[in-house]
Amino acid sequence: MDTLVSPIAEVVRAGLSARKKTLPPWLFYDAAGSALFEQITSLPEYYLSTMERELLMNHASAVMDRCADSRNLDIYELGAGSARKTVHLLRAALARSGATQYHPMDISLDAMEGAVRHLALELPALPVRPEVTDFTRAVPAPGSRFADGRKLMLWLGSSAGNYEPAEAVRILRRVTASMNKGDCLLLGMDLAPEEGGKPMRDLMAAYEDAAGVTALFNKNLFVRLNRELGADFDLDSFEHEARWNAAASCIEMHLVSRREQRVRIDALEEKFHFDSGESVHTENSYKLSTERLKSLLCDAGFPLEIVWTDADHWYGLFLGEKS
Ligand code: AVJ
Repeated sequence: MDTLVSPIAEVVRAGLSARKKTLPPWLFYDAAGSALFEQITSLPEYYLSTMERELLMNHASAVMDRCADSRNLDIYELGAGSARKTVHLLRAALARSGATQYHPMDISLDAMEGAVRHLALELPALPVRPEVTDFTRAVPAPGSRFADGRKLMLWLGSSAGNYEPAEAVRILRRVTASMNKGDCLLLGMDLAPEEGGKPMRDLMAAYEDAAGVTALFNKNLFVRLNRELGADFDLDSFEHEARWNAAASCIEMHLVSRREQRVRIDALEEKFHFDSGESVHTENSYKLSTERLKSLLCDAGFPLEIVWTDADHWYGLFLGEKS
């Protein structure tokens, strides 16, 4: 009967059938969603990107000195996206004596194509070997092409924050299983708000920007379901909402139904009921303390070597070395 079943159909059915409706954040990243996320990274309120870029610009050479020495280096990146943020690191890597190869991984084909085009212009000398993969499920093979080389795994942009910390550790252990003692991991993470540190107001503003781009990014999930699964979500009857979950130390994103309604999804041959005020939980964005990130790296098998942060500890780059 059904010859063409969308790969996202059963994920959506399970998520919307749960008592607390949930959809996984990787569903955000179709072509439009990837483009909207790029737009988020240049919003004035989204300090995460600005701060990470600054840290990478200032410390790229130090990272390379520590990771590569003068040896050949294979650089892998989880959720590389457009790879805009990685260019500083890659440039620093190319400036060293050893050969460098870059292996970006991302779930979005559009993002990977964008990365390849961008890098061909910015760093034409860099060999790029992209892989379109869901690294949280399929195990990528970080096989080094340089027999005598080192490996560096990147997980930047606070993307690890999408996962509950124990899950982030599990993912890291899997994707780094074939890495060797002395190989490195660089994690870029937004840090927990703290007394005298990042004010709650600035944290919330990053997820409730004045221009409403984050709301569009969140709602694009329903636009995607309308198109790919023949759903009839009425976008105006749902509201974007960001909430701070203090107990879990994470920002939650929700799409809240403004009224009682039913949504039909043709591909699932099913209708889903929404109470007025009922939400679909679409994302978690964990904000951990430096201490917790230190133990996370240790649990992942990469005890911390160096941390770089801004003066007010809003954002951090954590470098660990495989033990
Ligand atoms: C790509 C997961 C790091 O959590 O800040 C941005 C995604 N969500 N605005 C984040 C996102 C809403 C982003 N990450």
